[in-house]
Amino acid sequence: MTTLRKLSLLLITLTIVFSISTTSQSIIQNFLNCFSQSLISPTSDVIYTQNNTSFLTILNKKIHNKRFKTATTPKPLAIITAKESSHVQVTLKCAKSNNIQIRIRSGGHDYEGSSYVSDVPFVIIDLLHLNSIYVNLQEETAWVESGATTGKIYYTIAKKNNSLAFPAGVCFSVGAGGHFSGGGYGNLMRKFGLSIDNIIDAKIVDVNGNILDRKSMGEDLFWAIRGGGGASFGVILSWKLKLVQVTPQVTVFNVKRNVSDGATDVVYKWQLIAPKLHKDLFIRVQPNVVQIGQEGKKAVQVSFIGQFLGTVEKLLPLVSESFPELGLKKSECISMPWINSTFFWYDMPIGTPLETMLNEPNYPQPNYFKFKSDYVKKPIPKEAIESIWKLMIEGETLHMQWNPYGGRMEEILSSETPFPHRAGNLFLIQYINTWIEQSPEVIDRHVNFSRLFYKFMTPYVSNSPREAFLNYRDGDIGANHPSNVTTIEISRTYGSKYFKENFERLVNVKTKVDPENFFRYEQSIPIRSH
Ligand SMILES: Cc1cc2nc3c(=O)[nH]c(=O)nc-3n(C[C@H](O)[C@H](O)[C@H](O)COP(=O)(O)OP(=O)(O)OC[C@H]3O[C@@H](n4cnc5c(N)ncnc54)[C@H](O)[C@@H]3O)c2cc1C
Ligand SMILES: *[C@@H]1O[C@H](CO)[C@@H](O)[C@H](O)[C@H]1NC(C)=O
Ligand SMILES: *[C@@H]1O[C@H](CO)[C@@H](O)[C@H](O)[C@H]1NC(C)=O
Ligand SMILES: *[C@@H]1O[C@H](CO)[C@@H](O)[C@H](O)[C@H]1NC(C)=O
Ligand SMILES: *[C@@H]1O[C@H](CO)[C@@H](O)[C@H](O)[C@H]1NC(C)=O
Ligand SMILES: *[C@@H]1O[C@H](CO)[C@@H](O)[C@H](O)[C@H]1NC(C)=O
Ligand SMILES: *[C@@H]1O[C@H](CO)[C@@H](O)[C@H](O)[C@H]1NC(C)=O
Ligand SMILES: *[C@@H]1O[C@H](CO)[C@@H](O)[C@H](O)[C@H]1NC(C)=O
Repeated sequence: MTTLRKLSLLLITLTIVFSISTTSQSIIQNFLNCFSQSLISPTSDVIYTQNNTSFLTILNKKIHNKRFKTATTPKPLAIITAKESSHVQVTLKCAKSNNIQIRIRSGGHDYEGSSYVSDVPFVIIDLLHLNSIYVNLQEETAWVESGATTGKIYYTIAKKNNSLAFPAGVCFSVGAGGHFSGGGYGNLMRKFGLSIDNIIDAKIVDVNGNILDRKSMGEDLFWAIRGGGGASFGVILSWKLKLVQVTPQVTVFNVKRNVSDGATDVVYKWQLIAPKLHKDLFIRVQPNVVQIGQEGKKAVQVSFIGQFLGTVEKLLPLVSESFPELGLKKSECISMPWINSTFFWYDMPIGTPLETMLNEPNYPQPNYFKFKSDYVKKPIPKEAIESIWKLMIEGETLHMQWNPYGGRMEEILSSETPFPHRAGNLFLIQYINTWIEQSPEVIDRHVNFSRLFYKFMTPYVSNSPREAFLNYRDGDIGANHPSNVTTIEISRTYGSKYFKENFERLVNVKTKVDPENFFRYEQSIPIRSH
């Protein structure tokens, strides 16, 4: 780098730092003036500035990854807790006119904090209060606002009719806004596909502040927000879901096998059959590091967590025919309505009052985390599985979820939605690394281990591109600096991993609906420069 270039970079950096520290108060003051002048009916209880005594409480309420909850994590200039759509419209208008970026938050589960962290000046539009749900039993549909959690959605639907459900994630506190716009999957995936495969309409506030539905936004934009991530395109207010019919009783089980007891062979066989099983059967593999004996020796134990849409009498012959290695016993199976089984998947006692799923999660801390994802297209050899267990034991804190594809997932074309990972995938791996210590050095060490593990997996997973699941956002696979509007090449690194060929269509839609690239963030869809 030339000295001149170094100097000019330094100057730019200094200018940015200086201007943030001295003028952020006036920027936000201008924003506040604009906001209050633009509202038809004034409101005093929507905006939290950094001065407000409740600022941190509101900010932290929806932060699920403690890595982004530290004193040094960059904070928004303000949080707008929208109570009606006009608050969203006015926020967009005033953020634009004051050159402030926005981050959009629904449930706040983003793995990299994309909905509430940035190193450019920004405000958060927080949709937590926009969370109502309206079920239409005749149509078997529901309109849900983006701030509604999956727990509230499941609960509200089941209260109306226990045989209706919606395919989405296991965690009750995930928000509809991020979860659906990133795909959304759960244990009904092999039967019904992803959440986005069952979404039939939506309402979005576009960059001009217009509220559009499917008809007025057009099929291109409606395609893009179902799996392309919402925050590149606008603020999604609500979604219309086509509900699905589940059997009155589902059967669940969790069979644990130790590696010392042949688990590796069972896992190997699982790879061959799990994506081909009957659509009504979903069996997740979850390898964990457990302690054996008193001396603190570590070993791997694998859980085979299953769900069958039907009775135990129908399940047992299916399993003993296609997966006898599992050795599933009748006594290990429990039948109940689908809604009750959501507790089983969330590791909560069966019989927990259903209202519990409306609460913010009480998941066992730790929740400093670094997660990553991979797609597997050919079975991992047995010796490799053994070496994966060894590495898990070395790391101690990392466990995995292997989620089988096939069934409905492979019937849907990979261009049908921006989510491209359809036929040809055996399973999705999620690498889950969580810990409780909070020193920067320890955080660094764990994040490094996640990266090492990912590197180790390279020969066994998809390549060119190495595919990744958008809802498991991973900053390591590329990021734009949000002050830069012309980084299509950088975006293509993560874009091709999340979206494969669909990335180019997403860029086209983006360029059409947001040509100035107002809705941008660290991993947003870029505009095509002309
Ligand atoms: C404990 C846990 C369990 C999970 N389980 C599953 C699972 O089973 N299946 C699965 O598919 N995923 C799962 N996820 C991942 C989850 O689906 C994603 O993190 C999802 O993006 C979360 O949505 P959110 O609204 O809670 O997050 P947020 O952090 O609020 O948003 C995530 C992204 O979407 C954008 N966004 C949010 N709301 C809107 C909106 N209204 N309009 C436009 N853009 C918006 C944000 O700006 C951000 O870019 C899990 C995550 C966690 C932490
Ligand atoms: C903080 O913000 C809330 C929401 O806008 C408002 O109701 C409250 O009066 C503010 N409190 C203080 C001390 O500024
Ligand atoms: C926050 O408080 C400081 C110090 O009292 C004040 O100068 C500033 O104007 C306030 N900012 C806002 C947005 O209220
Ligand atoms: C509940 O939904 C199922 C599935 O559509 C339907 O067969 C049943 O009649 C509904 N029950 C009630 C009480 O509406
Ligand atoms: C598996 O290991 C755990 C932990 O050591 C132990 O409690 C359990 O009995 C073992 N199970 C089998 C089937 O060996
Ligand atoms: C399912 O939940 C309902 C509502 O809380 C409860 O009445 C019923 O006993 C539960 N069934 C089982 C098997 O847990
Ligand atoms: C983590 O990895 C980085 C880059 O390889 C290295 O500089 C750093 O020292 C590592 N940190 C720890 C705690 O291992
Ligand atoms: C913006 O992106 C372009 C294209 O990738 C790159 O050449 C340029 O250096 C970037 N600018 C900044 C400030 O990051």
